Amino acid sequence: MGKIESVQQFLRNQDVDAAFVTTPDNIFYLSGFSSNPHERLLGLMIFKEAEPFIICPLMEVPDVKATGWPFEVIGHADTEDAWDVVLKAIRNRGYMPKSFAIEKSHLTVERLERVDQLFPGATFTRLDEQLNRMRVIKDAEELTNLRIAAELADYAVEVGCKEIAEGKTELEILMAIEFEMKKKGVQKMSFDTMVLSGPKTASPHGTPGDRKIQKGDFILFDLGVIYNGYCSDITRTVAFGEPTDAQREIYETVRQAEQAAVDLVRPGVKALELDKAARDVISTAGYGDYFTHRLGHGLGISVHEYPSITGTNDMILTEGMVFTIEPGIYHPDITGVRIEDDVVVTADGVEVLTKFPKELRIIDPA
Ligand code: GLY
Ligand code: MN
Ligand code: MN
Repeated sequence: MGKIESVQQFLRNQDVDAAFVTTPDNIFYLSGFSSNPHERLLGLMIFKEAEPFIICPLMEVPDVKATGWPFEVIGHADTEDAWDVVLKAIRNRGYMPKSFAIEKSHLTVERLERVDQLFPGATFTRLDEQLNRMRVIKDAEELTNLRIAAELADYAVEVGCKEIAEGKTELEILMAIEFEMKKKGVQKMSFDTMVLSGPKTASPHGTPGDRKIQKGDFILFDLGVIYNGYCSDITRTVAFGEPTDAQREIYETVRQAEQAAVDLVRPGVKALELDKAARDVISTAGYGDYFTHRLGHGLGISVHEYPSITGTNDMILTEGMVFTIEPGIYHPDITGVRIEDDVVVTADGVEVLTKFPKELRIIDPA
């Protein structure tokens, strides 16, 4: 069954008249059209029975058609009220929906009020989980894109390692990585590239800046690229010069925690078991208080999607799920270390997409 048909099947099962999808990533998943509409209206309307349509800024109509979208595409000019255009397109189909499935986690209050005004008395149900469930299992083509995205991320870390030198700033290294990615044809990174050094590695969501690399630093790279619409997300932490025993101990603890979770991945295991496996290693070593986030997150068109790999998610892993495994220890007085891989649940185990080595890489400052 096609993706649009799956949503129509959902509408029939729930007895809902129409689905109105406005999240760009969900629109890309369902239609193949990718765009950032900023504040303009971009929507995909799917009806229980009638043909779907895409509503988009007028200037993007040719781009939608170029994707091979086989149904109607309606443009709205910047001088028009996009919602009047939506209403007209629906009326042309000869009926007025009385119930809508919407992405409640995305549709703004302002937009919801507008839909409510155009369709007085309409009821609203959640579409979010249905789309998340559809997206959580990747098909062969999606896996190919994710494999290539991961390969490029491995290469980006290698570039970063080669750029490390005493006195260079985090931003200079970051710039070299992204310059090289652009040369490889990468249009966009999955998120803002992170290059953190020395004490800054102890901040899981730190911001790269003008700190200069010094001997004895650990340097943490967290980055990813988008390939054909699919994201990678890798973290590696390397040493610049001989590490101290304390730094080594933290690194080895994270490496063992990460490997313990990777080794557990197979169909039938619960997401929370992975988090526990990694967290147990870190807690047993005495660093439990310094591992302050979940183990990982699903990966695909969005850099964070289903499934969330937390200590409370009892979702059962199934073949085709793709997610990150990224334990960390963030010690303000010693160092921060995170190691992050992208993994696929296979029929009988795991495929690790990111292949950059995980033994501690020591970069010689000489
Ligand atoms: N840098 C985002 C993440 O690893 O989740
Ligand atoms: Mn990451
Ligand atoms: Mn991640």
